[in-house]
Amino acid sequence: VSAQQWSKHLPGIWFLDPALVTTAMSESSISYLDGEAGILRYRGYPIEQLAEKSTYLEVAYLLLNGELPTEDQLSSWVGEVTHHTFIHENVRKRFLEGFHYDAHPMGILVSAVAALSTFYLDAKEIFDPEARHRQIVRLIAKMPTLAAAAYRFSQGMPFVYPDNALSFPENFLSMMWKIAEPRYEADPRLIRAVDVLFILHADHEQNCSTTAMRVVGSAHSDPYSSAAAACAALYGPRHGGANEAVVKMLTEIGSMENVPDFVRSVKEGHGRLQGFGHRVYKNYDPRAKIIKNVAYDVFDVTGKNPLLDIALKLEEVALSDEYFISRKLYPNVDFYSGLIYQAMGFPVDMFPVLFAIPRMSGWLAHWQELLDQDAKIARPRQRYVGAELRDFVPIADR
Ligand code: ACO
Repeated sequence: VSAQQWSKHLPGIWFLDPALVTTAMSESSISYLDGEAGILRYRGYPIEQLAEKSTYLEVAYLLLNGELPTEDQLSSWVGEVTHHTFIHENVRKRFLEGFHYDAHPMGILVSAVAALSTFYLDAKEIFDPEARHRQIVRLIAKMPTLAAAAYRFSQGMPFVYPDNALSFPENFLSMMWKIAEPRYEADPRLIRAVDVLFILHADHEQNCSTTAMRVVGSAHSDPYSSAAAACAALYGPRHGGANEAVVKMLTEIGSMENVPDFVRSVKEGHGRLQGFGHRVYKNYDPRAKIIKNVAYDVFDVTGKNPLLDIALKLEEVALSDEYFISRKLYPNVDFYSGLIYQAMGFPVDMFPVLFAIPRMSGWLAHWQELLDQDAKIARPRQRYVGAELRDFVPIADR
């Protein structure tokens, strides 16, 4: 089709941008990302300061409300979220227990988040501020409960109810690992590590799952259905599965001595260095720097993950190699996170689930922003490249 013919059907200037690489889909004031400089900020606050001084629930409040809470606002927000950690007994007994015994916990999570919409009659009242707030609180509060339930079900272990005397990250660890009364006691360094990892994963502007949330949300679907679409995007190995690929790669490399040979084979085009490179960051991913320090805190408690030395050697070799320097390939958020999760005892199947728990706050902040902007339904066009007009052929003549 010539440009002239094409423009007859598509008035104005049109861009063909299949992966939306050069298209800004929204105006947003939630997170700021400068890939060249390696900068990430939530609502203007540097990720480094939030990771050092804040908590995940405080950051969730910031993402959703635009400002850090006062003491009273924070205590009422934490109280609300804590109050909503329980899931309906039918979600647990009838819905979750209906899955195949070896179901993937992320598959369970995607379905369970979608199913929640049928448990709340006010889910569709997305323009009623109070009802909207209720769904936001419910979704943030129930993610750890659903995540831990999905894990324990996939392991054949009994469900653990939330213990609302515990903090958000501690409660999650308790629901994951508790085996006996009265309560699971996690090392405070592990609780803090989980909280910091949740802060780092809470938002990242227009990534694939957030885009899914915005696209489905733009149809005015309820937030549970929209968030289930976002979870489904995160289930994809290109999005939520990279840290699993890192652990697999490091295991295959096997020892520090094999690192130079492995890097050589990557440069010759045999696969990619997992956990390296990023569509937006052309510098060290700021989250990777923070995660590297968290790794040392966690290993102080759990003992060092034997894959750490291989990872450090790999980073050293790659960062001094012209191939990686010239292509601006640096460690990304996934390079060290899998090592931490593995050292803490999480199976690789749980890695995307651990990502989804905190990303829920980012998804909801974008969803709320989209509704407040009265955004139109997302409905891109296409460039048709199929058959020209032709007549139907009866089946006997084909
Ligand atoms: N290892 C080796 N070479 C690489 C890598 C890598 N990890 N990443 C990019 N390159 C090379 C490409 O081969 C290409 O080289 P060429 O110009 O000689 O052909 C060049 O760098 C540019 O690569 P693109 O694929 O164009 O870069 P893009 O921005 O599309 O890809 C991506 C980004 C997908 C993250 C890529 O770097 C990659 O595959 N990394 C490994 C997987 C990974 O860690 N994913 C997690 C991303 S973070 C997240 O999703 C939370």
